[in-house]
Amino acid sequence: MQLMEGEKEEILTCVKEVLGENSKTHENLVPILQQVQKRLGYLPALAMDEIAAGLKVPAVDIYGLATFYNQFRLNPPGKHEVKVCMGTACYMTGGDITMESFERRMDINEGETSPDRHYSLERVACVGCCTLAPVAVIDDKVEGKVTPTRVDGIMLTLEEGREETGINEEESGPEEGDGNG
Ligand code: FES
Repeated sequence: MQLMEGEKEEILTCVKEVLGENSKTHENLVPILQQVQKRLGYLPALAMDEIAAGLKVPAVDIYGLATFYNQFRLNPPGKHEVKVCMGTACYMTGGDITMESFERRMDINEGETSPDRHYSLERVACVGCCTLAPVAVIDDKVEGKVTPTRVDGIMLTLEEGREETGINEEESGPEEGDGNG
């Protein structure tokens, strides 16, 4: 996931502060990851690399831990967060089709965030509205009977006000240096 303007500095500052507030031991790894995620809203790869360097542990260990625990989110939350219920009632009434419809319309897969961070898409367990199955939660608002046609309507609403972000998708080269030299 490409970083937005100023995000690199924000991540580096955050990790530095969190590492400064905790003893840099392997036992503190999970609390450190939790604190960084709490501040940034997710665990960027850069943050995990910095934490690995700070704790002198292989980065692959950090990635392994972060992917093992589903409390950690590796993609940034989108401006619009869409959660598709995959509880039994929703699954039995086509929750997987609802998910596929969102994936197609957003052009991302479950668990991902769109490159401009307008959307993020994830699955959730039963949200307690089974009589409305299949259910999706759109920015904390529960939507029921979310058929593919309903997905189209929801997407139209979410597309409104879509703005340019600080990400320039045409530039895919390496990040600029900090100008020191
Ligand atoms: S299974 Fe989806 S709301 Fe209960």
